[in-house]
Amino acid sequence: MTCTLKDYPYLTYYLQDILFWYRNGSAGGSKIINSHMKHVRVALKQALKQCPEVVLPEAQSKPVCFHLDRAVDNGMHGPAAGSVRMFSRIAASLSWGYGYERMPKKLSDRYAYSELMGPCGLVRFDKLILGVVLLAPDTVYPAHSHAGITESYLCLSGTLSQNDAGVYAPGSLIYNPPEHSHRITTGRTEPCLLSYAWAGSEEALANQTMTFKR
Ligand SMILES: [Fe+2]
Repeated sequence: MTCTLKDYPYLTYYLQDILFWYRNGSAGGSKIINSHMKHVRVALKQALKQCPEVVLPEAQSKPVCFHLDRAVDNGMHGPAAGSVRMFSRIAASLSWGYGYERMPKKLSDRYAYSELMGPCGLVRFDKLILGVVLLAPDTVYPAHSHAGITESYLCLSGTLSQNDAGVYAPGSLIYNPPEHSHRITTGRTEPCLLSYAWAGSEEALANQTMTFKR
């Protein structure tokens, strides 16, 4: 039996809440970031309207998921509480992975991601990739970049820094243009939960590979 987004109300509400951030959140006066946010919300609105197929993967955990409850608890007290609450309803049925062919041993206990929407995501959609990244406290997510992909991270819980430039709290949006190298560090005592959005051509989204910079 084919299931669609309408069969998963919590997932739909979560996506609606993410849309809210891309519609009502501030671009901080940046035209480039505003344009990216518009791209994401147009695609996301289209997905919500089309009600795409949902393919539930076999649930898979990773060691960092031991930090998930704490990240959710913390996120419930922040400005992204609504999104975090809906995320908590679907978290147990997600498939968490690494995405990188070579995973540094140190990082394998401290990082995982789950793709919620995309060509191969939980919600099958070719024009936008949306997912979540979970990072343990005191973690260095090494430098990486995305070919042909414009990325934003929306902080849902915890704090992070990117390229040692600024400290970002829940509700912050970080923008990375294609090929831009970015390295993330998380706060010393609490985990960090990020929503990410990837925008690009359907070809770039379908053929994305993830590698760390040397
Ligand atoms: Fe990234």
